Amino acid sequence: MAKDKNILKHLAIIMDGNGRWAKERGLVRTKGHEAGANVTRDITEYCAKHETIETVTFYAFSTENWKRPKYEVAFLMKLLDSWLRAELETYHKFGAKFQPIGNIEGFSPKLQETIAYIQKETAHHTNVTQILALNYGSREEIAKAANRLAQRGETITEESLGAELPTPYVDIDLMIRTSGEQRLSNYLLWQNSYAEFFFTPTLWPDFTAHELEDIIDQYVNRNRRFGGL
Ligand code: IPE
Ligand code: IPE
Ligand code: MG
Repeated sequence: MAKDKNILKHLAIIMDGNGRWAKERGLVRTKGHEAGANVTRDITEYCAKHETIETVTFYAFSTENWKRPKYEVAFLMKLLDSWLRAELETYHKFGAKFQPIGNIEGFSPKLQETIAYIQKETAHHTNVTQILALNYGSREEIAKAANRLAQRGETITEESLGAELPTPYVDIDLMIRTSGEQRLSNYLLWQNSYAEFFFTPTLWPDFTAHELEDIIDQYVNRNRRFGGL
């Protein structure tokens, strides 16, 4: 009997390779981030129209990315602010709900305000939830969740800890990293426990909905066993 195809509900993406994309073209790294931001929009549109995808989680800025040169960090903060504001129209158009995860308090008051505003304005959309991991580190997320449970005197179990992670807590089905690097870089360690992984050499600004569709075609036929037979 033919095996049922895997359903894809939660897609997670590590958008990597913006800097190399720019360098290959003799451009400054920041041009790569600008080009990459457009791809994030295209992929969100694809996910909103996809029948089964409920959540797409993009890694946009890690807790380790503060180590980058000051001007690059400053550029990324500005880009995030202007991009989110410009995206509001797109979120409405695609019926996409925006939700941040990560240490938002670490950003400037203005950026925090933008994040809260876009979240509020898009809260009613239901085609897809677009989660942006912003100032995000998975170890920190897990440690903080464990601390909250401990402070409330609750026992730490898989269920209680899982439920304490920022909403919506959903297992990841498919995890994609672009640019050829094959590592998690402190991204969603808990939520990736049984994810299927795909690593593509494509640099993020060159990634397309067409390539995503190819990867999903492979994903649906993979044999996910979850420890069983
Ligand atoms: C990913 O691209 C975007 C962020 C981490 C913000 P990079 O900036 O890491 O690009 P490479 O890896 O240097 O090419
Ligand atoms: C991971 O990419 C973080 C984001 C994509 C936002 P990095 O380029 O920062 O990761 P490393 O340094 O190669 O592990
Ligand atoms: Mg990188």
